[in-house]
This record gives sequence, structure tokens and C-alpha cells, in this order.
Amino acid sequence: MCGIVGYVGQRGSLEVLLGGLKRLEYRGYDSAGVAVLAPSGELGTAKKAGKLGNLTDELRAHPVTDGHTGIGHTRWATHGGPTDENAHPHLGDGGKLALIHNGIIENFSELKAELIERGHSFSSETDTEIAALLVGDAYRETHDLTAAMLAVVNRLEGAFTLLAVHANEPDVVVGARRNSPLVVGLGEGENFLGSDVAAFVAYTKQAMEIGQDQLVTIRPGSVDVVDFAGSPVESRRFEVDWDASAADKGGWSSFMAKEISEEPDAVANTIRGRVVDGLVQIPEMEGLDDETLRSIDRILIIACGTAAYAGMVGKYAIEQWARIPVDVELAHEFRYREPVLSPNTLVVSISQSGETMDTLMAVKYARERGARTLSICNTQGATIPRESDAIVYTHAGPEVAVASTKAFVAQITACYLFGLQLAQARETLSTDAVRALVADLQKVPDQLREVLKSGDRIAELAHWMADTRSVLFLGRHVGYPIALEGALKLKELAYIHAEGFAAGELKHGPIALIEPGQIVFVIVPSPRDERSLHAKVVSNIQEIRARGARVIAIAEAGDVAVLPHADEVIRIPLASPFFEPLLAVVPLHFFGMELAAAKGLDVDQPRNLAKSVTVE
Ligand code: AGP
Ligand code: GLU
Repeated sequence: MCGIVGYVGQRGSLEVLLGGLKRLEYRGYDSAGVAVLAPSGELGTAKKAGKLGNLTDELRAHPVTDGHTGIGHTRWATHGGPTDENAHPHLGDGGKLALIHNGIIENFSELKAELIERGHSFSSETDTEIAALLVGDAYRETHDLTAAMLAVVNRLEGAFTLLAVHANEPDVVVGARRNSPLVVGLGEGENFLGSDVAAFVAYTKQAMEIGQDQLVTIRPGSVDVVDFAGSPVESRRFEVDWDASAADKGGWSSFMAKEISEEPDAVANTIRGRVVDGLVQIPEMEGLDDETLRSIDRILIIACGTAAYAGMVGKYAIEQWARIPVDVELAHEFRYREPVLSPNTLVVSISQSGETMDTLMAVKYARERGARTLSICNTQGATIPRESDAIVYTHAGPEVAVASTKAFVAQITACYLFGLQLAQARETLSTDAVRALVADLQKVPDQLREVLKSGDRIAELAHWMADTRSVLFLGRHVGYPIALEGALKLKELAYIHAEGFAAGELKHGPIALIEPGQIVFVIVPSPRDERSLHAKVVSNIQEIRARGARVIAIAEAGDVAVLPHADEVIRIPLASPFFEPLLAVVPLHFFGMELAAAKGLDVDQPRNLAKSVTVE
């Protein structure tokens, strides 16, 4: 999820590694580290929690002998908080091997048990250290770093980009990737590795892709790529075509654009490691065992802003699957109404930052009054998870843009996973029903990749509507929170009046707002949903169209009923109706971003807003 750099050549590796990590800072991170090999083979490492400045201070205080080979890492913690000990690199083979990792090793628990059997102890809480120890042990058999890495990557499940160096091979860096990025920078007498080209674009624009399940060995004069069976593969070379101004966002026009593009991975990585034999198993929830989950008779979801809308989607799912009453409340309202709480109330907080003061104070209030608390959070080690009985981390990776996008879809995914685990514990869904829902949920990342293709059309619409002064959003059932989210995005990014409504509410007042030319987005329920919500929403569209509204419908592929009534239809793939909100929101994220861009506004840092509101 974060930043990785590797180097072999004639330059001082420390300069290349720290410079590369600096250029990867845009990816966000919570700690950093390097491992360098001196020509003598001496392996020097340094790692610190916090920003790169902490790492350079550490290197100043405790210098390592530089050399011409090394690896560097910026971490976004998934397993173990952002501490010095959990920072990368991690060591193997008695400290002669250093390894860094981006991603999540799903089967690290069983591999850890095997290492304990072998007599290993651990200096960190991370999944990564398991890989370092395994490659180190393999090296003792193979005496070859490429072979050792190859032996281990075939045993790992999940998402990983790994880089390793070994004291016995002072001019070699070996990298491997599965479901996580890795690219080679090709130089003269030197070669680079990076999570993206920003790591080395200062030195070379000649690059080479590393494909899924491939392993690369770089030396100063050679780059060798094999698949995980060890067979050589041909790799595509390309030239980096960035202009310098985009370099600080990794080639993206904005952090928000980058983060929308990461929404599929945010969902995939939030699911990753939490499905066993087709059923949900969330490791971090040990603070709420099945017996406790069965004792819960009420769930209160508390959050602010976009996170609250994620909770509203979760409400529909959790209530339907686990048959427990679920309410969603804005955190800043919650504790001032003196809610009735009991040990059988579960208060679920949702927060990307884990530092939102309104939400934190609400969680503290709930705990003081005996409720159990679960934190859905995107930031390991943040204050709110630390104040909670159990945690479900969203593995969306760092979210830098103020307007939340990938964290939002990850939060909804975490709600779904929690709802399914709850239904399993309470046996309110059969295992077959759970397996079917899990299988549908696992299709969502690819369906999101399909929806991302609508970005260009949305940009055209946004530029055409750049002067609009008001946009309305309609949704129903799980589409209603998406209408609210679409409106919020427009308010916070394009600074225009926008309002989301439950479609059924129109005739109770809001339809009076409709006048000729009024732009209305409508999230259309699936026609396959037996609750006939689709027909109701289509008639809502007819009602507003009859009054001159310009309707942009977000509808699933094949929905022809909507065609005669909408000015524009944005298609989303067929998905389980409960999961369609994850798809329908992407065009609205694009629209907010593109309308702001069309108005020349700062997409990543909208006026008056902070990424984390740490004051009440
Ligand atoms: C969403 O785009 C906004 N940035 C804002 O509503 C945000 O969701 C809210 O402040 C909650 O932040 P949190 O998830 O970090 O708690
Ligand atoms: N899962 C690893 C850890 O928590 C790597 C996280 C990352 O991608 O930075 O240390």
C-alpha cells in the first residue's frame, strides 16, 4: 500500500533510497526505513516511526556504512501499530538478510506458527517479519537470494511486493510481486525498483513492468525476471512520460484522482485475510467473541460526514442479515441526547482517521456508560481504535485528499464483513447464504474496475455543468446514503448547493424544488430486487422529468426501463443489490472531483476543510 525503493549501481545507495522515498511520500505513510549493503557486505539498517525526517535524524545519530546496494520502505501499517519495531526492514538469516514489504500476507498466522516451531522469536507484530524469517531460512538452504525468495513467495497468500538484500550478495536486490505494484527503472550500470516510477524517475525514465506473480533480480548490469515457477519471462519496457509538476502525486492530477482509482484495491484489501472457507472471520475482533455478539440486542453506528453515510449503508445490511435493530447517529448529536445504553448495546464507530474528536468523544461516552464498542478505522494505532473493545481495520491505504473516497467504499465493505460475521455468530443466515454473499462481495473489486471506465464521460458532463448552481441527488434503500454522499462531495469540492433525498420523500416537499433545468442524479435500484423499489424510483424520475428536471440516472447494465426517462444513463455492472452502492458511488466521486476541477478549485484541499477534524 505504501512506498518501496531498491537500488544497485555505482551511486551511494542511501542518497537514491532516501530521495526515492521522498518522491513516494505522496502515497502517505506512518513510518520509514532503509537497509544498505556496504561493499564489504556489511548490512546496515535504520528505521523509525513517523515521517522521513525521523529516519534521517536516526541515520545522523547512528550512521550506517553506505554502499551501492539497498532497499527503502515507507509503511502504512496493517499488522501492528506504527512503531519503530514494526517499521521495515525486517531481518532474517541471523541479521544477514533484510526484507521490506507492501501489502498484506493473509496466511501469516499459520506461517508464524511454523516459525515458532522452528524456534524463531519475533521483534515485531507485523506479517512482514514472517516473510523475512522464511526467506532467511530458505537462504541457508539455497545460498542464493533469488532461489530463496522464489521458494517463499510460492507459500505466501495475499498481496505483497517484497524486496530483499543479503550480506553475501552485495550487488543484488531481489523483488517479487502479487496483487501489489512493482516496476523496474533501467539505468546504465545501475538499476532501480519501485512501487511506482516516482521512486526513480529522477535518475531514469526507462522502465519495465513486473507482472503478477513474477520475481525480478537486479544487478548493476542485468535485470532478470522469472515467474513464480522460476521460468524466465519477457517484460514490457516503457518510457515514463510525466511532466515534472505531476511527480509529487505520482503522475496523478490529484490525490483524489489517485484514490478513486484505488477504490477497487481498497475493497479487495479490506476483504483480504478475512474470508476462510467462504465464511467471514475477522481476526482483530477477538475483543467481541461469538458469545458476546449473540448477547448484543442493539447496534448504534456513530460517525461524521462521509463515514456516517457508510454507516447508513451498513445499517441496511447488518439489520437485514443479523436481525438486530441498527441505528445510525451523527457522533456530535449522539452524546448530547443522553442515549439509553447497556452492556448489550454495541456502539460501532466509523472513522478513516481514527482521530475525529466528535466521534472519539462519543465512543468514550458510550464506554463510560457500559456499552461495548467496535471501531471501523483506516489508521492503525489511532486514538479511536485504541479506545475500543474491538477493531475492524479498513485496508484502504493512506487517504490524503480531504474528500474521502476509497476509505468510504472500504468502510462499507467493513460493515458488510462485520454484518456477515454477526449473522454467522447469531445463525440468522445459513452458511450457504453467507457463502453466496461473500462470493458476490468478492466480485466487487473487478466490478469497480469496470465502473472506473465511466470517468471520462463523467468529466464531460461535469465540464458541461460547470456553471450549475444546484444539484439534487435521489436514492432509495441502500441508494439513499449514496445520494447523501454524492451531495456532500459536491458541497465540499465544488462549493455549490447540493442535497440528497430519499426518493420516496420527494412528494412530501422537495419536489417543489424542481424547476426546468434542475439537475438531478438518481441512483436507480436494481430491477432484479423483488421489493419493486425500481418501479417506484422510475416513477419518481417521471415525476421530476415532467417538471423539467435534467436527470442523470445511475443504473445497472441492462436496465432498459430507465432509458426513456433519463437524459443520461451511467451504467454500473450487475451486482448483488446490497453491494450496488459500492459501484453507484464511483460516478458521484468522479462528478464531484471533475466539477471542482472544471471550476478551477483545489480538489485535494477544499476551502475551510481539514482531513481530520480533531476539534469538537
Ligand atoms: C468526507 O469527504 C469528509 N472529508 C468528512 O465528511 C469526513 O468523512 C468526516 O470528517 C469524518 O472523518 P473520519 O472518517 O476521519 O472520522
Ligand atoms: N502489512 C505490512 C505491515 O503492516 C506492510 C504494510 C504496508 O503495505 O506498508 O507492516
